Amino acid sequence: MVEILPSILAADFARLGEQIAVVERAGANIIHVDIMDGHFVPNFTMGPPVVESIRKVTKAKLDVHLMITDPDKYAPLFIQAGADQVLVHQEVCPHLDRTLRMIQSEGALAGVVINPSTPVATLDEVLDVVDYVLVMSVNPGFGGQKFIPNALKKVKALAMRRKELGLQFRIEIDGGVSLDNVASVARAGCDWIVTGSSIFHTPDPEATFREMQYLAGDALLVHI
Ligand code: DX5
Ligand code: ZN
Repeated sequence: MVEILPSILAADFARLGEQIAVVERAGANIIHVDIMDGHFVPNFTMGPPVVESIRKVTKAKLDVHLMITDPDKYAPLFIQAGADQVLVHQEVCPHLDRTLRMIQSEGALAGVVINPSTPVATLDEVLDVVDYVLVMSVNPGFGGQKFIPNALKKVKALAMRRKELGLQFRIEIDGGVSLDNVASVARAGCDWIVTGSSIFHTPDPEATFREMQYLAGDALLVHI
């Protein structure tokens, strides 16, 4: 089943609990949380204390996207704070296999992310280790950017490789997804679709979430 994951980067941080409750009410099972350190990406967001506070106000799983240069050091802190699944960037992990196994041993699902310029082939040796792979469809750092269509080619390649190898990892996409392109994103083979501004920057985020979820699911049905 394809799922929409709201990214709280686009939420009103002064009303974070309230905004999470809105998308949870609309059916969100997983909330995407963007962590930026001002080094790996030119922006800052939040640290473990904020994740800990979010953990207390929602039953949804927390998908923590680490856009930081030292995930080995900080991933355990985010897991202790309540992260259920943690994403690290391939570009900052020289010992990716070890990092992914460390996240799993700390009790979370382990995901790896690739930037738009990073080839899918760089993940081939860890596909049997990861729980999920995230394909960035914008350059990380900011919400509200334009979708990079080449990401769909990468999602299709990953879905094909998964089938060839008989593996089960999930495929996630992040950045620039809107009501206009969510159907083609779902059809490419994504299991989890992250979307921030296209939900929270609308007058009725609850209705927009439902519409987005409907369009993604409907895209996979065979209409006769
Ligand atoms: C970008 C973040 C995304 C961001 C997506 O660096 O990783 O999760 O919130 O935002 P939209 O959906 O607005 O492109
Ligand atoms: Zn993200």
